[in-house]
Amino acid sequence: MTFDFNETQLLIRETARKFAEEELAPSAAERDEKEEFPVEAVRKLGALGFMGMMVPPEYGGSGLDMVSYVLAIEEISKVDASCGVIMSVNNSLVCYGLDRWGSAQQKEKYLRELATGRKLGAFALSEPEAGSDASNQRTSAVRTKGGYALTGTKNFITNGANADIVLVMAATDRSKGANGVSTFIVEKGTPGFSVAKKEKKLGIRSSDTVSLAFQECLVPAENRVGEEGFGFKFAMKTLDGGRIGIAAQALGIAMASRDASVRYSKQRKAFGQYLAEFQAIQFKIADMATKIEAAQMLTMKAAALKDSDKPFAHYAAMAKLYASRVAVECALEAIQIHGGYGYIKEYIVERYLRDAKITEIYEGTSEVQRIVISRTLLKN
Ligand code: CAA
Repeated sequence: MTFDFNETQLLIRETARKFAEEELAPSAAERDEKEEFPVEAVRKLGALGFMGMMVPPEYGGSGLDMVSYVLAIEEISKVDASCGVIMSVNNSLVCYGLDRWGSAQQKEKYLRELATGRKLGAFALSEPEAGSDASNQRTSAVRTKGGYALTGTKNFITNGANADIVLVMAATDRSKGANGVSTFIVEKGTPGFSVAKKEKKLGIRSSDTVSLAFQECLVPAENRVGEEGFGFKFAMKTLDGGRIGIAAQALGIAMASRDASVRYSKQRKAFGQYLAEFQAIQFKIADMATKIEAAQMLTMKAAALKDSDKPFAHYAAMAKLYASRVAVECALEAIQIHGGYGYIKEYIVERYLRDAKITEIYEGTSEVQRIVISRTLLKN
């Protein structure tokens, strides 16, 4: 067993760190305040090869491993967790899904554009009545001549307003439950497809989260991904990997909280000494660092297992479950260390708490992660 990153992984981490500090840091707070999508930053992430990190070079991707991807998402999310999720959805939900299960024609037409960052993707599974209960799909896909007509509403869709290509899960046969769901590639501008409500959020405010409406939206049969009825399994398998990306995003927020706490406690004096000299503060920082290390180990283990094609789903769930809790705890402690300054927008740590909370909710709530973990342990 080794705990060293290889040269490529270190280079990716360094590149992501530099990009985040130079390109994201100066405008992250303002974009959060204005709920402004980072169009230019996403374009540059594409040029760096960060929007299709695991996609093979033959389809325009970087051909990297999952460990490199985790390192990149951590660094980006340390500075701007909104960018972290935009990147994560495009990489692990959209590109991965198409790379793994898309047809050669779908890869040629869509994956290349997505992996190079020329186009942006979204993943539309959640519905008003199908959040955790994801197989309860109300959006229907009815067979028509040459394709399917999609009708229904998707909600809480990350990247939804800016996406050029959306992977949409819909029921092709409701009588079959989870096994009657299929996945479709829907292009922006397809008649019958529109972006509906944009959500105003607590955190990750510069990423966009919207509802999508489908009204008799005609999708050609060649845009179905995999067999009819494979859509729920497609979504679950894709989300297994996606959860590693969200764990990495949570880790980035936790690390930023730790770093801000260390910095502040060495600058701020109370009762004639630096905060860093008080044992109460030292212990908080020690606990943050220990939890982050443990969360990173779990996340890297899940990533390494996925890289070596070994079963990883329940490790990914553990990583997300734990890293997301650590992110919330570290952000809370960072605010506590900053005192009143931690509570105001002039200081960065209040954003960390707002951004951290969602990591316990999307790509499966913490309760869903516990279902996935316990089912794996109890199934035999
Ligand atoms: N891999 C492969 N197959 C799987 C699977 C997996 N990980 N999970 C389930 N399946 C299969 C089952 O084996 C079963 O197949 P058979 O019928 O052939 O036996 C079928 O799928 C149905 O599975 P379940 O009976 O387990 O389904 P369930 O209704 O009990 O649901 C659940 C299980 C774990 C709660 C699931 O619904 C779930 O993960 N919910 C959370 C959904 C989620 O994560 N949403 C995130 C939305 S996307 C997002 O958040 C993106 C973003 O904005 C950042």
